[in-house]
Amino acid sequence: MSVLRTKSIEQSLADTDEPEYRLKKNLSALDLTVFGIGVVIGAGIFTLTGRAAGTMAGPSIVLSFVLSGLCCAFAALCYAEFASTVPVSGSAYTFSYASLGELIAWIIGWDLMLELLVGAGTVAQGWSEYAQLLIQQLGAKGFSAEIGPFHWLAALLVLGLCVLITVGIKESLRVNMVLVFLKLFIVLFVIIAGLFFINGANYSPFIPPARPGDQVSGLAEPLLQAVLGMQPTAFGVFGIFSGAALVFFAYIGFDVVATTAEEAKNPQRDLPIGIIASLIICTVLYCAVCLVITGMVRYDKIDPDAALAEAFTTVGHGWMATIISAGAVAGLMTVVLTLMTGASRVVFAMSRDHLLPPGLGTLHSSFKTPYRVIAIIGVLGVLIAGFIPEDWLADMVNIGTLTAFILVSIGVIVLRRTRPDLPRAFRVPGVPVIPIIAALICFYLTINLSIETWLRFLVWMVIGFVIYFGYSRTHSRLATGADQHGNAPTAPADQS
Ligand code: ALA
Repeated sequence: MSVLRTKSIEQSLADTDEPEYRLKKNLSALDLTVFGIGVVIGAGIFTLTGRAAGTMAGPSIVLSFVLSGLCCAFAALCYAEFASTVPVSGSAYTFSYASLGELIAWIIGWDLMLELLVGAGTVAQGWSEYAQLLIQQLGAKGFSAEIGPFHWLAALLVLGLCVLITVGIKESLRVNMVLVFLKLFIVLFVIIAGLFFINGANYSPFIPPARPGDQVSGLAEPLLQAVLGMQPTAFGVFGIFSGAALVFFAYIGFDVVATTAEEAKNPQRDLPIGIIASLIICTVLYCAVCLVITGMVRYDKIDPDAALAEAFTTVGHGWMATIISAGAVAGLMTVVLTLMTGASRVVFAMSRDHLLPPGLGTLHSSFKTPYRVIAIIGVLGVLIAGFIPEDWLADMVNIGTLTAFILVSIGVIVLRRTRPDLPRAFRVPGVPVIPIIAALICFYLTINLSIETWLRFLVWMVIGFVIYFGYSRTHSRLATGADQHGNAPTAPADQS
């Protein structure tokens, strides 16, 4: 069946050498790790920690972070193996094209759009809220980041970052590097300064006793509870699990490192380092932040929106809160930047395979970046960041990412069987057990998402299928046999 056709790894690698699609190879392992941290630490730790601790898990939120981090660690191993075997732009999309076939690859590419593009819009909105707060704290009391329903500041951020990405990845990374270090400084500041305000009594009870949660019903109910007819509960051991499903968002992004594979100097060695190092660093920092925040403020008094800043206001140090808000503004900016870069790389890879119009992937003559792709990502990003409500989108980002993780985990097992001969600079230990556990945990988290999220996800997938069967399946380079210069000898000229 044509939808199961796979693109050989050798072909994927050869494509990266086509002059008109060749990206500059100038990223080191350190660059990749910084890139990873830049996208991972963001709205999640700055906003969701408070909500998850205050309404779901109490001090045991640190266990939710450990659990979610573990899920990501298993998935990260799978990403690392793939990235070291198929060091080609496009991340999970490219991996699955080589192992699971074209349709699954399309689905993953389409899911990655949710993760990266919609994620960028979501975090841009979070950024504009912090920026508004900071500007107000600095004196402009009447400042607003919104005009009616239009989040103009978020839209402006997306637009500005698009220009930066067009100018070139190394340049963007330089800006990114400065902002990432600033963000790390703020997170370490929270941890170290916070240590002095910890009150051991706040850790007790560590796992607050379970009690009925806010009665959510209808489409907002988690799919799992609806299927099992369960009563929603907060806290207790289940609270740790629902907390984990929520804070998963805080880890999203380490996989984006794999989207820059072609720009790495030594991808086989550096990609696994970049993916795993950024995940480990973020997990350690997150757990420390959780312990500090829940030690400073009793869990039922934690601010659900701005827990980190508010914890310092609570202990009487408002100026520290302002510093933290400023850090959040810098921190969230790098997340948006990196997510958009990743989105452009995925569309680039898909257009190179002609699953999207090939003209999109053409590189700019002097900047050597896929400027048309970036322009489209920019327009969509501006619309999403500008007009769509944040809470509507965050869960969509989670479900898209988790689905991609599941398929990548399965892909590792498949590729080990179909291509045992390929050199793998990094190998997941314990195959197939570890990838299967990774897929199961990810699936468990998806069924903890709401019914409406699932419905929106289904609509998104239907749109994807319409494009695939209406355009991509027949225009695909695997279908037309187009050569590496984009000419399609066995197909009409307009398909090249
Ligand atoms: N992990 C990223 C964040 O928390 C998406 O903002």
